[in-house]
Amino acid sequence: MFHTTGMFAGLLDFPEIAFGKHHPLPHRLAITEVIEPLKSIWLSDLHFSAVDNVLGHNPRARLTAAVEFINRHHSDAGFCIISGDLVNRGSKSDYQQLKHHLDKLHPPCFVMAGNHDNRELLRACFTLPECSMSDFIQYGIDTPAGLMLCLDTQKTGHDSGEICGKRLEWLHAQLQQAGDTPVYLFMHHPPMNLGLPMQDTENLDNGDDLLALIRPFANIKHLFIGHVHRPICGSIDHLPFTTMRSVLYQAPAPIPDWDWDSFAPAREAPQLGIVTFEAQQTTVHFTQFCDYRVGT
Ligand SMILES: [Fe+2]
Repeated sequence: MFHTTGMFAGLLDFPEIAFGKHHPLPHRLAITEVIEPLKSIWLSDLHFSAVDNVLGHNPRARLTAAVEFINRHHSDAGFCIISGDLVNRGSKSDYQQLKHHLDKLHPPCFVMAGNHDNRELLRACFTLPECSMSDFIQYGIDTPAGLMLCLDTQKTGHDSGEICGKRLEWLHAQLQQAGDTPVYLFMHHPPMNLGLPMQDTENLDNGDDLLALIRPFANIKHLFIGHVHRPICGSIDHLPFTTMRSVLYQAPAPIPDWDWDSFAPAREAPQLGIVTFEAQQTTVHFTQFCDYRVGT
């Protein structure tokens, strides 16, 4: 049995938390009373590799630093969500080594797919919630603070994303069933342009379809978005959104101009998000977990 510690001690139990293949990760977090706020950890774009560096950055060193930071300072978090690009190239050994690292996390960890991921290998190495779609890495996590819906925006073989009719149908059904329950959407690809000339061409191809689907649902509280390797906040259709830095390497700001031929990661330290969910407020703290020099 897994018990949270600190301010949530004894309140949140995860009776079947296990990361082995044969122990389904529960998507409903059992509670004994209502808890506010619910604290969680948000990581994105690990680009993990079992060997070698990625664009001059060591993904094993960076992930180790993130895991140690979380366990030292935020082991009381209810859960972690990683919003895609778990690996850089997607070999079996990459996923196996990645799982070895993530198994060290104290809070339970939910993984999502990005454009760099391989659904089959991801599914073979990680236990997904029982409610996950069978052919996509798309599922919900029922928490005391509301429903976290983790979307699969991968367009296989492309850097840009898509969310097909089947995934949109699933999302619509989840939103209808949620009623007045607060809903938080996690996704890899942005469904809108973000003023990033070199990156906006790789967003969700049919982002307008997603935005049109979610627009009528007033219970959706926040969009959490990966992919861009930069921290950006804003709103779309009065719905707040946040993007997150990469655990590994950061994209430069759009000005001064750069293009893919001249691309070099920004010399900026990585961050993770400490997210607290309350009935009337969502708060994201961008939190540096190691010096830029770690793993470079
Ligand atoms: Fe990425």
